[in-house]
Amino acid sequence: MLDPFNRDINYLRISVTDRCDFRCVYCMSENMTFLPKANLLTLEELYRLASLFIECGIRKIRLTGGEPLVRKNLIWLIEKLSQKIGKSNLEEITMTTNGSQLAGFATDLANNKIKRINISIDTLDGELFKKITRWGDLSKVLDGVKAAQDAGIRIKINTVALKGINDHEIPSIIRWAHSNGMDITLIETMPMGDIDGDRTENYLPLMDYVKVLEKEFTLTGSDYHTGGPSRYYTANETGGKIGLITPLSHNFCADCNRVRVTCTGKMYMCLGQDDAVDFNKLMRDNASDDSIIQLIHRSISLKPKSHDFKIDKYNNTPAVARHMSVTGG
Ligand code: 5AD
Ligand code: SF4
Repeated sequence: MLDPFNRDINYLRISVTDRCDFRCVYCMSENMTFLPKANLLTLEELYRLASLFIECGIRKIRLTGGEPLVRKNLIWLIEKLSQKIGKSNLEEITMTTNGSQLAGFATDLANNKIKRINISIDTLDGELFKKITRWGDLSKVLDGVKAAQDAGIRIKINTVALKGINDHEIPSIIRWAHSNGMDITLIETMPMGDIDGDRTENYLPLMDYVKVLEKEFTLTGSDYHTGGPSRYYTANETGGKIGLITPLSHNFCADCNRVRVTCTGKMYMCLGQDDAVDFNKLMRDNASDDSIIQLIHRSISLKPKSHDFKIDKYNNTPAVARHMSVTGG
């Protein structure tokens, strides 16, 4: 599927739930209100919609949330989708998880052709982990990391860089990840959805932080590229990769290859814009496959050239009103 800027859209991210068993301070407020369950697409509906996207040319699906593994029976959906790998356009299913439930699901994921996952870990200090996630337990997440590795799943760690909170620890998180055979991506906080505090206080611009990293590691620019908003470096000392996600810069929009579908069946053409197309009504009105496919193509033709993110003191309201947990990053 080509969009108006000639980008080949072949990557679909599906947020299977907006719910989460953590309450990370930069992501949501402690008393976050979630969507009414009746608004969620059923797993059967998600499967049908995903299948039609695959028919249109989607080759890679990432399941996100919220926390995808808190969605009941998610493994059913994964099993159904994994049966399409190699028999349709679909080549790969991946997942982004907070790891809390991973110890129990790692084998199921591996058995269903999931070969790579991203796990979010912002600190390796159990107390700080509790402070950042409010409800999380680091030891459970580390058990999940181990279980996934034992099951043969490759892991990439996602770490949100938070000034004054975990920035002192980032080099040691990198060393830990690399020494355990995992690449790592550092993420800037993005102005999405209301939280209890002020995000600008903890905003750490990663393009500046590279200078700090260069004191710790010899970095060489890597041509490794995922079509996403990351720049990659290799740390010569460890041989591992360090990705930097700097969503507030526009330079990656030119090769964006992705669209996002939420758990309620809304498709967002860009993470940083509010425009969405609703598939929910069509699905629930028993629309034909053809009319849904038509809407997919029409939505792709609406994909904007780039996003509108800004984060600064003078612009304290979120750039987009919805939380990351609705579209899953
Ligand atoms: N800004 C940046 N990253 C965020 N995440 C969740 N909310 C935000 C935000 N507002 C991160 C999670 C996870 C990834 C999917 O997105 O920690 O690593
Ligand atoms: Fe949950 Fe991820 Fe948001 Fe943390 S960042 S509350 S783990 S969805």
